[in-house]
Amino acid sequence: MPRTGSLAQLCSRILNEPRFRSWSLLHMSHADKDMRLVVVGATGRMGLALIRAIKEMGGCVLCAAIAREGHPHLGRDAGTLAGGEPVGVPLTSNALHAFAKADGVLDFTAPTATLAFAELAAQAGLVHVIGTTGLTAQDMDKLAAAARHAVLIQSGNMSLCVNLLQDLVRRAAAALAPEFNIEIVEMHHRHKVDAPSGTALMLGEAAAHGGPLRRSRPNSISRSWTCITVAR
Ligand SMILES: NC(=O)c1ccc[n+]([C@@H]2O[C@H](COP(=O)([O-])OP(=O)(O)OC[C@H]3O[C@@H](n4cnc5c(N)ncnc54)[C@H](OP(=O)(O)O)[C@@H]3O)[C@@H](O)[C@H]2O)c1
Repeated sequence: MPRTGSLAQLCSRILNEPRFRSWSLLHMSHADKDMRLVVVGATGRMGLALIRAIKEMGGCVLCAAIAREGHPHLGRDAGTLAGGEPVGVPLTSNALHAFAKADGVLDFTAPTATLAFAELAAQAGLVHVIGTTGLTAQDMDKLAAAARHAVLIQSGNMSLCVNLLQDLVRRAAAALAPEFNIEIVEMHHRHKVDAPSGTALMLGEAAAHGGPLRRSRPNSISRSWTCITVAR
């Protein structure tokens, strides 16, 4: 799990993203008002880490924390659930109501949930920040459609270093003659749902320069390893 420090960095990167910044300046009645953020998937590893990160940083405030209907922790304080002091925000399953009073939604959940939240976020005119991975090409098409009506910020890895690495991989691949093979091999933690990870796919796409990726040996080494081959 990423440490809260790097998550604070992540939040700061999201909040300073030019599209988010320009949207927020347009939509908030006072530019210096705290951004009201909803965390969906609030009981997940990333959701809890985001609740802690929002508490630590200035310029934003947690206005709602969303979990599935029937979740045993509904009604409990989000700050306490995240292992800190109470923040006065009870866990709720009512996303529609929560989105109506928010400026942005932070979404590290699962593809089906993200598509549903994208529709709600577009209806409410929120900025939708998507860290969920495992999105298919069809899912991305649906998100692109939602992005015509709302601001969406999506990345398979929000870390500054990985985004820098993506650029370095793109340059390294361009410098290599076509006869060089490029393979990305990665190891996952035991809770990882999708493989290859969003990070591996981002790096693969950078190496392929937008060309096709051949997942020649998915999970071929062991359950926690994935290898993808870049077609050149
Ligand atoms: N882009 C990045 O930088 C980055 C970094 C880390 C992780 N991720 C990605 O973020 C996602 C979450 O990771 P995680 O480690 O936090 O996973 P996690 O601990 O399993 O948390 C997922 C959360 O989403 C909720 N959820 C899943 N399906 C849902 C649905 N259909 N409706 C409503 N809520 C749903 C889960 O609720 P239940 O427990 O009730 O199912 C849980 O609260 C993954 O796709 C992961 O790869 C991205």
